[in-house]
Amino acid sequence: MRDKLSRRDFLKTGIGIGAASVLTAGKNLAVQQKKEGKMCVVASGNGLRATEKAMELLRQGKDPLDAVIAGVNIVESDPEDRSVGYGGLPNEEGVVELDSSVMHGPTHNGGAVASLRNIKNPSKVAKLVMERTDHALLVGKGALRFAKAHGFKEENLLTDEARERWLERKETLSDRDYWFAPKTEELEKELESYLSSHGTINCCAIDALGNLAGVTTTSGFFFKIPGRVGDSPIIGAGLYVDNEIGAAGSTGRGEANILNCGSFQVVNFMSKGLSPEEACFKTLERIEEKSRLLPHLLNEKGLPRFGLSFYAVNKKGEYGAASMWSGREEVRKFAVHDGKENKLKPIPYLYEREKQI
Ligand code: GLY
Repeated sequence: MRDKLSRRDFLKTGIGIGAASVLTAGKNLAVQQKKEGKMCVVASGNGLRATEKAMELLRQGKDPLDAVIAGVNIVESDPEDRSVGYGGLPNEEGVVELDSSVMHGPTHNGGAVASLRNIKNPSKVAKLVMERTDHALLVGKGALRFAKAHGFKEENLLTDEARERWLERKETLSDRDYWFAPKTEELEKELESYLSSHGTINCCAIDALGNLAGVTTTSGFFFKIPGRVGDSPIIGAGLYVDNEIGAAGSTGRGEANILNCGSFQVVNFMSKGLSPEEACFKTLERIEEKSRLLPHLLNEKGLPRFGLSFYAVNKKGEYGAASMWSGREEVRKFAVHDGKENKLKPIPYLYEREKQI
């Protein structure tokens, strides 16, 4: 567990990153940078293939937004990943609804889609919202119509595996309805782990020219109310990029994050000189403090009853991540390609869980 950063330590960090950037940002303006710097791609723990792919594209000189989108598309298209795209767990009506946002540092532009049905790669549609409309967010049927206008084909995103999880949940929800389930201990455990997991993938990158970009994409909460939108497609909450400072994104309990503009806060703390990891922690501490006012977000000890993680990379190519809670080995890691090596690293956390779920 990490030592909390004291207020004095925080103030001592001062400011400084901004001066290092040499950049002309804005639509249609060329990006200028004196010399090549350190490339880095950081992602949530389910993003090891994404960081590998994104780095491969950065090395070819591709735009960092194209690189991270190509990276997360691997996970979105993977039926084995239950938290994103095809194979993602559905809403309470058994329908998969996807959310995604993208942000491009050099142009400070972004796009997003929410509650998008039947389209496997919402991050690609989010990029088209950015490039081919003057809007920032399209939702539901409008987002689907827009995707189809751009040639995306509708497909059923509900895999048999996801449908079975949905059916188990439906059948075990209440003993006062007409649904029966073969109730076993194994099923109980399985459901507990599904309900407490809200996967998502975030991936942020800096290229050799010091340009930043990020993407966040998810199928949101399992069994959510149809139409529920999480933090992933909300620029400032699930993703934020400032080309002169850094990029950050999140996974976990969207509602707690939306109410605190978490990714914006991470980038803002980095602008004050905090390292990416310190900025992620400071943001989690803020969110924890504010969540004390919301009893439905607290457990019996008054601590956050939700998981939330942030991932960040700054203008120098330094990276970091932090989580509210510890967890099982395989889920509490983040992925990073630092230009030399692609690896999973343990995420430092604020609180240690007594029960590892
Ligand atoms: N962070 C994903 C969600 O809340 O939907």
